[in-house]
Amino acid sequence: MNNFDFKNPTKIIFGKDTIKNIKEEIPADAKVLLLYGGGSIKKNGIYEQVKTALADVDVTEFGGIPANPEYAKLMDALTVIKDENITYLLAVGGGSVIDGTKFLSAAAVYDGETPWDILTKNIRTEKGMPFGTVLTLPATGSEMNSGAVITREETKEKLAMGGPGLFPVFSILDPQVITSIPKRQLVNGLTDAFTHVLEQYMTYPVGALLQDRFAESILQTLIEIAPKVLEDPTDYKAASNFMWSCTMALNGLIQKGVPTDWAVHAIGHELTALFGIDHARTLAVIAPSHYKFNFEDKKEKLAQYAERIWGITEGSTDDKAYEAITKTEAFFNNLGIDTKLSDYTKEYEGTAEKIAQRFTDRGWTGLGEHQTLSPERVEKIVKMAY
Ligand code: NZQ
Ligand code: ZN
Repeated sequence: MNNFDFKNPTKIIFGKDTIKNIKEEIPADAKVLLLYGGGSIKKNGIYEQVKTALADVDVTEFGGIPANPEYAKLMDALTVIKDENITYLLAVGGGSVIDGTKFLSAAAVYDGETPWDILTKNIRTEKGMPFGTVLTLPATGSEMNSGAVITREETKEKLAMGGPGLFPVFSILDPQVITSIPKRQLVNGLTDAFTHVLEQYMTYPVGALLQDRFAESILQTLIEIAPKVLEDPTDYKAASNFMWSCTMALNGLIQKGVPTDWAVHAIGHELTALFGIDHARTLAVIAPSHYKFNFEDKKEKLAQYAERIWGITEGSTDDKAYEAITKTEAFFNNLGIDTKLSDYTKEYEGTAEKIAQRFTDRGWTGLGEHQTLSPERVEKIVKMAY
């Protein structure tokens, strides 16, 4: 097992009817900016619950943060933060609203020239404006981690940021919120969380027995609950396990002491930036090709995953490893997720070269757990995914 530090300061308040607990978490004298997305919270009753809980608090609102949180829109919110002397942010939404709020937490205290530099220059936020979250969509894990991904339509970029100052102070996880989520977003959430685990697991063995089993248990749970969540989102047992699995998939725990990859995400973000494809779907497009292309590096873990997750015990290491990639793709397909770029756009020619060029320009010359995935190799992987 590799050496590691681990600190996760986010307080999780999990369970039925917990949204009302917000009021105990926010200082009474705070000037709060309540941030939300396109309005789903006004239809499903979450907005009402939040407003009731905040009845005695000074609250300003900012809605309209789009899926793939847009820089220009967030800059409008930053103006509100400055004009209204906001001291505390509250994100009510999925990964997009939470990530947008993290950007604002960083930008509110940033004294550089332009907040976009936080993303392009990789400026870590040591201390941001405090914020809490009410999670409405299990998927990203953003509710318990310190990362964010921000989109800029003007330049068709989607870039990551983070730092120890960007953990939410608290996050409210009421699994009942999933009842109003459209099926498309439920399957996105399952796929995103599943791939988060794979990014931190599908590398090479380092004798981290417990981390491997943490990771495997999340995969097994997601596979078990997926059909139940889709069939009946009011099934609380399934919903609560779904929500907690998504949070645990990316709150830092399972990546400790093990190598991590994250190339699938890096490439996938480009597909969202270029074509607007939902984040989770870009992962399902890239992951199978990535694992086939890097088969030799990853086959031991692929074979372990084949045995423990998919029950494949026959054949050689190579046979099992290959079968595991097929099973993974079938899992995504069974959720209704297409796994080829050409399923999403007819304009895919040239995409591989474009992504490789962007990675070269950014100096991303060695991705993956061995830092050896060059832009030329990325180009090949993307072509395999056409
Ligand atoms: O905007 P509203 O009206 O709220 O509707 C949203 C949106 O249209 C809707 N929705 C959310 N909760 C709902 C609901 N509809 C009905 N009932 C509810 N309870 O779902 C749509 C998608 O929401 P979004 O927040 O975009 O989805 P998700 O949580 O999947 O977040 C995706 C974003 O997170 C980033 C992605 O890149 C993408 O921008 N990620 C963030 C990560 C992180 N911070 O750690 C890691 C991930 O790998 C990912 O990159
Ligand atoms: Zn993701």
